[in-house]
Amino acid sequence: MKYKGLLALVGGLLIIGSLCLAEPLLVPSPEEYTLEYAVNFQKTANTTLAPVYAPLAQQITEDFKLHDKRGIGVDLGSGPGNLIVELCKVTQNMHWVNADINPFFFPIFYKAAEEAEFGHRVSAIFADSQALPFRDNYADIVVSRGSFHFWDDEEKAFGEIYRVLKPEGTAFIGRGFSRNMPVEIAKAVRSRQGKGKGGMPKYSVSDTADELKGIMESLNIEDYRIHTPTPPDSDGVNYGIWLEFHKK
Ligand SMILES: C[S@@+](CC[C@H](N)C(=O)[O-])C[C@H]1O[C@@H](n2cnc3c(N)ncnc32)[C@H](O)[C@@H]1O
Repeated sequence: MKYKGLLALVGGLLIIGSLCLAEPLLVPSPEEYTLEYAVNFQKTANTTLAPVYAPLAQQITEDFKLHDKRGIGVDLGSGPGNLIVELCKVTQNMHWVNADINPFFFPIFYKAAEEAEFGHRVSAIFADSQALPFRDNYADIVVSRGSFHFWDDEEKAFGEIYRVLKPEGTAFIGRGFSRNMPVEIAKAVRSRQGKGKGGMPKYSVSDTADELKGIMESLNIEDYRIHTPTPPDSDGVNYGIWLEFHKK
């Protein structure tokens, strides 16, 4: 009897635990992911955050040797796609896919890509990071900036990223700035964010590093590195945190 009670309790706790993590969104939710958010974020991306994308694209291209590579790159949670436009400029032959949970971003993204003459080098698809709409071994690289902290079940999402990567494919997922971002510009961006509506992003880089390490361990992904850029003289400027991993 006692044993049955214990089993029921454990079962109940497991059910409650799984209910706390939202199920992946399989169709868009325009009530939750709105046009207003897309329009407002595009303004932030084109003003306060504008200096962030070109150096990040440059770093990604150099680190992962994408300049001449022919392949598929996914930017997960790309929003207005500023990073993709910059990635198109520095990669010759990559096709870049904007995979975002908010499809209101897509017309904005296509317009920006077409204006930069990259309309033929990009695609966009509704995607919840926790249930990616791609087959196994689809992408050469998955990148993402400023999105993972919105994902309800990060472990599921990182598992999905691993699944869709080609063998030897790379993921580079994080928030903040690349290490090649000049310190004065990083300071200026942080100061503008501090004055803006959302304020300065508040999170502990070391707690996030521990969380990401835990996720890599539970997914048995051994080939990973966590980057917390701290360029010379950047004391006190939060450059964010990035997780790089590779599929076997
Ligand atoms: C702060 S914006 C960052 C946009 C872009 N990466 C950038 O750096 O400019 C966060 C983005 O993540 C997307 N997002 C949030 N949750 C998501 C999820 N579960 N799956 C995919 N995208 C998601 C949002 O729609 C939004 O475009």
